Amino acid sequence: MLQFILNEQNIDTDLPSGMTMLDFVRYHQHLTGTKIGCREGDCGACTILVGELINNELHYQSMTSCLMPIANAAGKHIVTIEGINFPDGLNPIQQAMADEGATQCGFCTPGFIVSLAGFCLGNQAVTKENAIAAVDGNICRCTGYKSIERAAYKIADLTKTKNNSQTIDFLTSNKILPAYFSTIKNRLEKLQNETLPLPEANTKIVGGGTDLYVQQHDKMTTSASHYFFDNKALKNITIADNICTIGASVTVAELLSSPIINKGFPSFPQYAKLVSSTPIRNMATIAGNIVNASPIGDFTVFLLALNAKIVLSDGVQKRNLPLQKLYKGYKDLDKKTEEFIEAIEFVLPDENTYFNFEKISKRTHLDIASVNTAVSLQLKNEIIETIHLSAGGVGPIPMYLAKTIKFLEGKNITEKNISEAIEVMWTEISPISDARGTKEYKTLLLGQLIKAHFIQLFPQQLANKIIV
Ligand SMILES: Cc1cc2nc3c(=O)[nH]c(=O)nc-3n(C[C@H](O)[C@H](O)[C@H](O)COP(=O)(O)OP(=O)(O)OC[C@H]3O[C@@H](n4cnc5c(N)ncnc54)[C@H](O)[C@@H]3O)c2cc1C
Ligand code: FES
Ligand code: FES
Repeated sequence: MLQFILNEQNIDTDLPSGMTMLDFVRYHQHLTGTKIGCREGDCGACTILVGELINNELHYQSMTSCLMPIANAAGKHIVTIEGINFPDGLNPIQQAMADEGATQCGFCTPGFIVSLAGFCLGNQAVTKENAIAAVDGNICRCTGYKSIERAAYKIADLTKTKNNSQTIDFLTSNKILPAYFSTIKNRLEKLQNETLPLPEANTKIVGGGTDLYVQQHDKMTTSASHYFFDNKALKNITIADNICTIGASVTVAELLSSPIINKGFPSFPQYAKLVSSTPIRNMATIAGNIVNASPIGDFTVFLLALNAKIVLSDGVQKRNLPLQKLYKGYKDLDKKTEEFIEAIEFVLPDENTYFNFEKISKRTHLDIASVNTAVSLQLKNEIIETIHLSAGGVGPIPMYLAKTIKFLEGKNITEKNISEAIEVMWTEISPISDARGTKEYKTLLLGQLIKAHFIQLFPQQLANKIIV
């Protein structure tokens, strides 16, 4: 029996754990405020909030209910648009949207309002920029974004005096959210003590579901699956002897809030902003990105440039595998069916390591890459001592550019060496023309992104020299 709280109501259900939360709220609870748009995580019409106890604190995140199995709600608080309504009028978030003319047909509006409620409940700084960032996964096709932007600014203004340790008290006492939110922490503590469903052996693994539910929506609803998203043993980010270990089910949002990751990669927030949207980053796991084996998976390309290893387990035995050896061909992995990723390990960059990630997509935000690439390198006496370079979108698998790496090892950083390295790179890639660009475009683009790595990392050496 799966247990969670939906708005104010306790839910006990034996419906299939793979059913999406969207179908559950609309068709089984008749809460039709949550809309069905794309069913692919792209539009945000189905946005819900998911509250969970972490270290005894209640944290809310926005998620797209169209990609979330109800299994991933066990022991949590699910909030739909109905759950933030007041019986006697609009809440201030809804009022701001109405006052600013931020809604026309209204189809997208519940999603925007739920995302903005997530902003009010979040721990991020209360700034206008963060209010806008909270709706980066919501699309409106008819109103125009300026009025939505004004409404978001008003909401940021409403909450600017909140104290993060008393967010819920602030929001309920100011009648921004209904009073029942104050009871949720206690209620979840009780729920946490109850038995959650046990995983079944030898079944499909589901992380955040953001790939699986896009690709196999109907099948996932009824298939027996092994739900890894909330497996606490797979949720840690640790550092020992400079080796960083990331548990398989760590999400992009958890990477973003990790002091270890932010220390190793000071530009991580800029990189992560190029990956999907707030609700998807709250769901997408690192192992899901690796095993999905998309040739343009952003974190796969990121980790290849760190020469990362994965720890595979079949539940009894474990083995370590360099990530670059996992990919044998298009979606063909050196992984047995019964094996799962337990963790990912790599040497955390220190002050002597240069790391950079570049991604070009048709749209800057909420888009997958046409081409992406990452590099990490170390110098000795101005000579490249070690280098790892990866690229996505230029072959059937995420690529570790072994020949280019070999060429660059032992070289110094000059315009000539970089141009020659790019010619070597062209001999080892095999892009195809598709919706994301012609093969000629991708070939040229990767060359430009490799130049971008070096300009970004060594502006002094290369200033005004490189290169169009
Ligand atoms: C709107 C949208 C935007 C997106 N934008 C981007 C983007 O910008 N960049 C990008 O790289 N990706 C993007 N994605 C793809 C996706 O979000 C990522 O690939 C994500 O990391 C997948 O993780 P998940 O946990 O959701 O995977 P799931 O869908 O749960 O699983 C994906 C695969 O991994 C397997 N799996 C999961 N965990 C394990 C494990 N521990 N061991 C073995 N196998 C496992 C599953 O069986 C499945 O085969 C986007 C997706 C959506 C819907
Ligand atoms: S229906 Fe479009 S994101 Fe879920
Ligand atoms: S109001 Fe119509 S889609 Fe946004």
